[in-house]
Amino acid sequence: MNAVSDIGVIGLAVMGENLILNMESKGFHVTAYNRSVDKVENFVNGRAKGKNIYGAKSIEDLVSSLKAPRKVMLMVKAGKPVDDFIELLIPHLDKGDIIIDGGNSHFPDTERRVKYVESKGLYFIGTGVSGGEEGALLGPSIMPGGSKEAWPAVKPIFQGIAAKVADGTPCCDWVGTGGAGHFVKMVHNGIEYGDMQLINEIYHIMKNVLGLSADEMHEVFKEWNEGELDSYLIEITRDILAYKEADGTPIIDRILDTAGQKGTGKWTGTVALELGVPLTLITESVFARCLSALKDERVAASRVLTAGPTPAFDGDKKAFIDHLRDALYAAKVISYAQGYQMMKAAAKEYNWELNYGNIALMWRGGCIIRSRFLSNIKEAFDKNPDLANLLLDPYFAEKIQACQGGLRQVTATAIQNGIPVPCLNAAISFYDGYRTERLPANLLQAQRDYFGAHTYERTDKPRGQFFHTNWTGRGGDTASTTYDV
Ligand code: 6PG
Repeated sequence: MNAVSDIGVIGLAVMGENLILNMESKGFHVTAYNRSVDKVENFVNGRAKGKNIYGAKSIEDLVSSLKAPRKVMLMVKAGKPVDDFIELLIPHLDKGDIIIDGGNSHFPDTERRVKYVESKGLYFIGTGVSGGEEGALLGPSIMPGGSKEAWPAVKPIFQGIAAKVADGTPCCDWVGTGGAGHFVKMVHNGIEYGDMQLINEIYHIMKNVLGLSADEMHEVFKEWNEGELDSYLIEITRDILAYKEADGTPIIDRILDTAGQKGTGKWTGTVALELGVPLTLITESVFARCLSALKDERVAASRVLTAGPTPAFDGDKKAFIDHLRDALYAAKVISYAQGYQMMKAAAKEYNWELNYGNIALMWRGGCIIRSRFLSNIKEAFDKNPDLANLLLDPYFAEKIQACQGGLRQVTATAIQNGIPVPCLNAAISFYDGYRTERLPANLLQAQRDYFGAHTYERTDKPRGQFFHTNWTGRGGDTASTTYDV
């Protein structure tokens, strides 16, 4: 086979196929390969027919069809299949060739793979690709990281196929070394979990407290999607609520209330705990899915734990819907503020130079969390790349202060009506915690010192000096060593 292709893609599941078709439509010649070769046959004789797409019959065939430096993109299941294909490819590639992993790999795996592949004289890029099937075909958001030397060769393809914002800027830019690309994709997915759970909580209140019908809720989401909340997830929620089965029943009423998850939200929460970042909202959204999955237990508990309020609302529905809108907006700002805090902590930990404005731009189009408000986040970080927290940006500080009242009202109403709102609650608690000059952690430090001589700092002494009190007179004056996680 002559070396004609600009890139090879391994993995012909829906994302792989759609990315190939997208690349071809932008003028690139692509080689397609899949471990079960009949899939290649089906693809080249089906959706790829008549296009500049070559179907490879083996790894050797794939590699020999590529122009140098060879670029092979894996669109396979995260985990072992990625390592297996790396091993299969290495003996056939030459110095300077590039392996790309476009799956939802966990970033520590990508860190390891970059080092390993580079040790073989090759380059490795681990990239987030977001946007689902349609995004892959028409323009996803792409978040590449890894071997920077490989970026110039990959850039025209990735930026060519990525979604574009209104002025034509692609939703794809270099993120950073090692696992930075997959880390940013992981945070994207965590934010996706948070955004979805927030919308779910608002829906729950609309339905069970306000008693709105699916059609009424559809109208509210439709209106919201024309304002500041304009986003892909609000848009699909609007459409889901309007979708009826043949007998006229909204399909939403027939979908079982147990959420699935593939693990990226869990990773985000776990990494936040490891980094010591208060990523409360996203973490609660993962637990909310776990609780939803306990369907049988919940059904049983609903018959035992009957004490609690019966939802009722006798206020001004229209005014309350405005509070719901403000609550959703405020909680979303808080979730993104937490997500950005986490990226800042990771950049420090892993020595990445993350460009926070560019990350917002990459998320502005193509991906699942795309929204109008990401433009404001981009502006905030463009104005001040060292912004300590999004909530301190003048635009967002004003916004959050204007909307916090609605968030408070909605959370309080939900609790009084027995509606679980873990993410709205996490949002208002974070807002109040973050703006509180003196939290009760003085008591916590006293407790730690009381039972374990863990020491405390004092308000009347400089920071960094630690004290111990012999609280009972029975313990000695020896303090335990001072260390922090
Ligand atoms: C995307 C999505 C995608 C993710 C799905 C399912 O950016 O296109 O984040 O990568 O796999 O949304 O995720 P869960 O099954 O964990 O909900």
